[in-house]
Amino acid sequence: MSKRFFPILLILLVLGCSLVAAQTKSVDAEGHQWWQHAVFYEIYPRSFADSNNDGVGDLKGITSKMGYLHDLGVDAIWISPCFPSPQVDFGYDVSDYENIDPMYGTLADFDHMVAEGKKHHVSIIFDFVVNHSSDQHAWFLDSKSSKTAAHRDWYIWRDGKGPGQPPNNWISTFGGSAWKFDPTTNQYYYHFFYAGQPDLNWRNPAVEKTMLDTTRWWYKRGVAGFRLDAVETLFEDPNLKDNPALPGTNKQGDPEQEDTYNTKLPEVYDVMHKLRKVADESNAVLIGETGTRDIEELKQYYGEHGNGLQMPMDFMFTGVDKLSPPEFRRQIALVDASGGWPVYVISNHDRVRSYNRYGDGKNNDAIAKLMGAFYLTLRGSPIMYYGEELGMENNDPKRKEDVKDPIGRTGWPQEIGRDGERTPMQWSTDANAGFSTKDPWLPVPPSYRTHNVATESKDPNSVISMYKKVLALRHTNEALLEGTYTALNEDDANVMSYLRSYKGKAVLVALNMSASPQKATFNLADKGFASVSLKTLVSTPQSSAKGMEVTLEPFGVFIAELAK
Ligand code: NOJ
Repeated sequence: MSKRFFPILLILLVLGCSLVAAQTKSVDAEGHQWWQHAVFYEIYPRSFADSNNDGVGDLKGITSKMGYLHDLGVDAIWISPCFPSPQVDFGYDVSDYENIDPMYGTLADFDHMVAEGKKHHVSIIFDFVVNHSSDQHAWFLDSKSSKTAAHRDWYIWRDGKGPGQPPNNWISTFGGSAWKFDPTTNQYYYHFFYAGQPDLNWRNPAVEKTMLDTTRWWYKRGVAGFRLDAVETLFEDPNLKDNPALPGTNKQGDPEQEDTYNTKLPEVYDVMHKLRKVADESNAVLIGETGTRDIEELKQYYGEHGNGLQMPMDFMFTGVDKLSPPEFRRQIALVDASGGWPVYVISNHDRVRSYNRYGDGKNNDAIAKLMGAFYLTLRGSPIMYYGEELGMENNDPKRKEDVKDPIGRTGWPQEIGRDGERTPMQWSTDANAGFSTKDPWLPVPPSYRTHNVATESKDPNSVISMYKKVLALRHTNEALLEGTYTALNEDDANVMSYLRSYKGKAVLVALNMSASPQKATFNLADKGFASVSLKTLVSTPQSSAKGMEVTLEPFGVFIAELAK
């Protein structure tokens, strides 16, 4: 080899090695993977940032906000579906799994977003709609064309019980029968959600292979993981047994029933393991849209050998609508006991925003700060929802004619739909909260004038300032990153407090979940911390400690290090 090339080769070798090291350096001394240290942030792409001012957000918009996300303390964004789609369920009806809807941009925009994300240390998580496609997907168009079509068996087709009678009593969760008659072949097809969202037949190996390959394709292109949509409903009882009836009717006016034969069938867990195997090829993470009834179920999602989903969402916090330390303690203890890595979520695009759910109408900002300080200091990975860091509130439609979400249109007024929690991100006091110069697809609430990124960033006591402080602490404090969780003062019905400890270091968190001032005294000798004092790390203005006694203002936050 010529002498001239040797130094170049050496540089390339060193560069190559450090690149490999960077990719594999995802496990820390505690055996924690990258996603266990990451803060996740859900983006509803229609509503985050609109680069071309057409009233709907897009990928270039998201890319332009990478700096914001990084500064906030976000490590990974989960983007709700942005694949080509007729938008019947705003992207949860996919007509091509390996492309980007022109409304959101192009594959080149996606590549650019990934590259910018890398620069800002923000990974991209996509939303994989595994249970169903759009009825406009080429697979379904072929499937419905004839009983002998190549894709016929990619969906669930059955004869009716009799003339005008669907194959069984299953109800679509979005209203009406879960079966739609198709006159071309005189059979019904099954849809757990809308008729425009026919269920894929996961018992067909070709479907399974195609879907697994799709995840591989996106991993190669740069996604760092998937949130698996509606993964519990992948399989149906092959004999189509009727679901047991329950008393009453649901918000769509349909008879209540137990989803015994069309949700959580055991085959679901096999698919999770297979998806995980592919994810492991790329060190990717799988987040599950998995509602858990109990801890045994949660364990199944994690997989007996940890070979299921790394981050099944249990949604338990989203079910607690009041500030209840005993209930929160109970849930945390259960999740911790499951043996898997906890995932904490307080808001998403299907639930009323946490600002409204926990807020009492008078102290909502204080409560929003408290909730942020709470779930962002627990052991586990949090998934934030865009705008939560501002105290964004629901802006629910007042009239049926304004509703965009189909479940609100069919279920009005009992079911008003999910538009309220999907309104545009509030960036500034400019028109439409700085989201778009054109009227956005959903209106922003009047509170955008005070609750927006620009205004709140100037106020050290704003919701976003609390989020930033806590997130910064979470990224740098070893006890918060690696430490165990121990509930403290478990009889206290007002103050939620706990210890996060790691290798002799600890952080104490005390949160006043009541509207009156509270005091909490801590004796940590039996936790291995005798004669310590509390050194404040983050607190609300009137919360402080004297010795081991903490005084908390209403909804006050106090986070401190234990100093010897
Ligand atoms: C769950 C998603 O979160 C929801 O928004 C969607 O409507 C259904 N799955 C159907 O895909």
